[in-house]
Amino acid sequence: MADFLMALPKAELHLHLEGSVEPETLHELDPATPVEEFRALYTYADFDAFLKAFAAVGKLLRTPEDYALVTHRLLERLAAQNVRYAEIIVAAGVVLWKGQDFGPIFDAIRKASQGSAVEVRWILDAVRQFGVEAAMQVAELAAERTGQGVVAYGIGGSEQRGPAEWFTEVFAFAKRAGLRLTAHAGESMGPESVWAALELGAERIGHGITSARDPKLLDHLRAHDIPLEICITSNLVTGVVKQLDQHPIRTLYDAGVPIVLNSDDPGMFRCSLTDEYRLAARAFGFSEAELRSIAQNGFRYAFRAVT
Ligand code: HPA
Ligand code: ZN
Repeated sequence: MADFLMALPKAELHLHLEGSVEPETLHELDPATPVEEFRALYTYADFDAFLKAFAAVGKLLRTPEDYALVTHRLLERLAAQNVRYAEIIVAAGVVLWKGQDFGPIFDAIRKASQGSAVEVRWILDAVRQFGVEAAMQVAELAAERTGQGVVAYGIGGSEQRGPAEWFTEVFAFAKRAGLRLTAHAGESMGPESVWAALELGAERIGHGITSARDPKLLDHLRAHDIPLEICITSNLVTGVVKQLDQHPIRTLYDAGVPIVLNSDDPGMFRCSLTDEYRLAARAFGFSEAELRSIAQNGFRYAFRAVT
């Protein structure tokens, strides 16, 4: 199985650049802080504690060079796992929140990705709880960069503190600009949050795991061919799923909902895409044929234009 998973050509569709940063790299960026402190930052009492840690990592990325460094490190790790294609989510909302200019940061990230064995596209992501104006600024940044590998616009952060209904106009704007649409939803809230994201026009759902509680929603996702970006380790580490055997991946898959496997924040969760496949096999009995079809979904549901 290990050889099979390594040899399998894989794609990452739900992967945050900032969440990919290892504690050791944070220590390199901020040598005055012991690495143990960064390891401690990467343990979360609950989902909101994770969101706070995510913002703290964003703050430690101070310069375009810092962003370039973490992009290099991430792409090396992806290439080593035979990940052929990645849509990397950049928290442009956090960059603006820090009061930084996004242009030089994006240019540095993009340059750092050139020459990688991994084909890369970008998703710019706004933070729900930062509100609609901040989200619109992120959509504008994305719209200006559709010729530079930005394929989609998304929202993440707190579903509770930033309901999807706020973002109707923003998503309409992004769509008119030619961007594809995704939203984190049904991660820390129930299926109603997934319905609300679909109402916005989301074409993929980040996590969407609570859809398993709503048979009508499962039918809808299957009938409309809307994939869920599943990240098993993430859900356990942030505490939105309490125990591995309670994760609904099997229920979702068996209901015929398209699923893709992803690592979400591999540095912050100390996981990898290959490990997510291994976990799916070990804990949920996915066969090699099933895992191959899930891996193919990673390419099938990509937002890149098919060339
Ligand atoms: N959910 C919400 N916000 C996030 C996530 C996530 O999985 N990763 C980084 N920010
Ligand atoms: Zn995420």
